[in-house]
Amino acid sequence: MEENRNLLTVKGISKIYYKREVEIRAVDRADLDIRRGEWITLWGPSGSGKSTLLYLLGTLLQPDEGTYQFEDEMLAGTASLDYISTTNDKKLSAFRAEKIGFIFQDYNLLDDKTALENVMQPAKYLVNPKPESEVRQRAEALLKQVDMTDRMEHFPGELSGGQEQRVAIARAMMNKPSLLLADEPTGNLDSANHNMVLELMRELNREGVTVIVASHNPEVAEIADRVVKLKDGKIDEIASRI
Ligand SMILES: Nc1ncnc2c1ncn2[C@@H]1O[C@H](COP(=O)(O)OP(=O)(O)OP(=O)(O)O)[C@@H](O)[C@H]1O
Ligand SMILES: [Mg+2]
Repeated sequence: MEENRNLLTVKGISKIYYKREVEIRAVDRADLDIRRGEWITLWGPSGSGKSTLLYLLGTLLQPDEGTYQFEDEMLAGTASLDYISTTNDKKLSAFRAEKIGFIFQDYNLLDDKTALENVMQPAKYLVNPKPESEVRQRAEALLKQVDMTDRMEHFPGELSGGQEQRVAIARAMMNKPSLLLADEPTGNLDSANHNMVLELMRELNREGVTVIVASHNPEVAEIADRVVKLKDGKIDEIASRI
């Protein structure tokens, strides 16, 4: 049997909001095949639906229409919308914790936990949690990889933005996800930290992690294997450059 090259396939996926009875299609019937190991950059003007599409792909938002197929697991879609809405949060968060890593523009670290504890956090959501010592060891190794060994006991408030984002990258990798999603990951960073964060993400991509990034930065589009251009919630074009 031929191996499936696609990691994730969405068909006709939409997210619809209502404001004073006016329908806003934040994402409008998007079709997308995400191939294993590729880097996709989501591109488009403010309000075009980049973040919404990214959150749909990451199951942080539930689609109102369409189907969502991750590897062999049908998680959402019109045919199985009941499934995603009845799937308990614990099951969905376990799927997410195992398969998907997230990086956000504002880092989203837990303020009352140290860098090390933040990196260890995703391991708590696994169905079969690993021993604490093993989790700690991996977290320490990941913090070393992002050059944060000397800040492991620091709280987020004691770190610079670039350092916080490096901790967030380590956290995203905790459970060895196959998909890394990032929403403007360098949007708040100066150019030195921008370069460092992009380089770390490229390294993960070279190691085989599939990457999808929403960004306004042309450099992030240049790196991409494919640029998905959005306009008014629709996929306008899929190209190799902007
Ligand atoms: N919770 C919500 N309720 C109502 N409308 C929303 C909601 N979230 C997003 N929208 C609308 O959906 C559209 C797409 O928003 P989205 O945040 O996905 O855009 P974006 O491309 O990420 O923009 P930016 O580049 O500014 O981050 C916008 O018109 C926005 O106003
Ligand atoms: Mg956005």
